[in-house]
Amino acid sequence: MRILALNASPRRDGNSSQLLAAAASGATASGADVSSVFLADQVSGVLDDCRTCRGSDGRCTIPDEYESLLLDQVVPADGLLIATPLHYYGMAARLKAFFDRVFCYTSAAAPEADRVLSALPGKRIGLLIASEETYPSASLGLVHQVQEIARYNRQHLVGVVYGHGNSRGDVANDPRRPLDQATELGRTLFTAPATDYHFDTPRGHSVWGV
Ligand SMILES: Cc1cc2nc3c(=O)[nH]c(=O)nc-3n(C[C@H](O)[C@H](O)[C@H](O)COP(=O)(O)O)c2cc1C
Repeated sequence: MRILALNASPRRDGNSSQLLAAAASGATASGADVSSVFLADQVSGVLDDCRTCRGSDGRCTIPDEYESLLLDQVVPADGLLIATPLHYYGMAARLKAFFDRVFCYTSAAAPEADRVLSALPGKRIGLLIASEETYPSASLGLVHQVQEIARYNRQHLVGVVYGHGNSRGDVANDPRRPLDQATELGRTLFTAPATDYHFDTPRGHSVWGV
């Protein structure tokens, strides 16, 4: 299975990076083929008005590496590990741009729309959040937004790890051991249950089948 690990922090060596490295190591240990991307290397532009920046061939002309990131790395991935710092109670802006700009590649005018649309469903997602504050609802808006994006794309949000810290690497001092939790999330990305029932979903009395 292929996993793409996305670090949305502006800091290459910050807390999100540590969480993501731990998750990637768990995924690699489970046999997954993991590649990592520091989002700032590939995404510098935000979504603009497609009428002004879509080329005559239908391609997005925002001058950065987003297209190759999406088409060559996100599309073929079976799973995404996404690490972001909490910024003003939401995701880092570059991650929002990453999600927003999928729009440019799924509209009818986009030459690769069918390929992108058919690759969206089914991906399993692990979310890793670095934040300074520890109160449970600080990250709620961010988690809810990623959950809704996953639902909209028919993907599965498998789990969320919260790591608390501020200075670079501080997350390693968090007594809740988020790095261990991240390793476990990576290890089980394709095996952990990720259920979302409807009233008629076939199921037994025990979640765990015992
Ligand atoms: C612009 C900005 C906004 C932030 N907003 C919050 C916040 O709303 N709540 C919080 O707990 N921490 C906030 N933080 C702190 C970071 O989430 C925290 O330092 C995190 O560990 C940084 O992760 P990183 O090292 O991966 O960048 C903010 C930091 C920055 C730079």
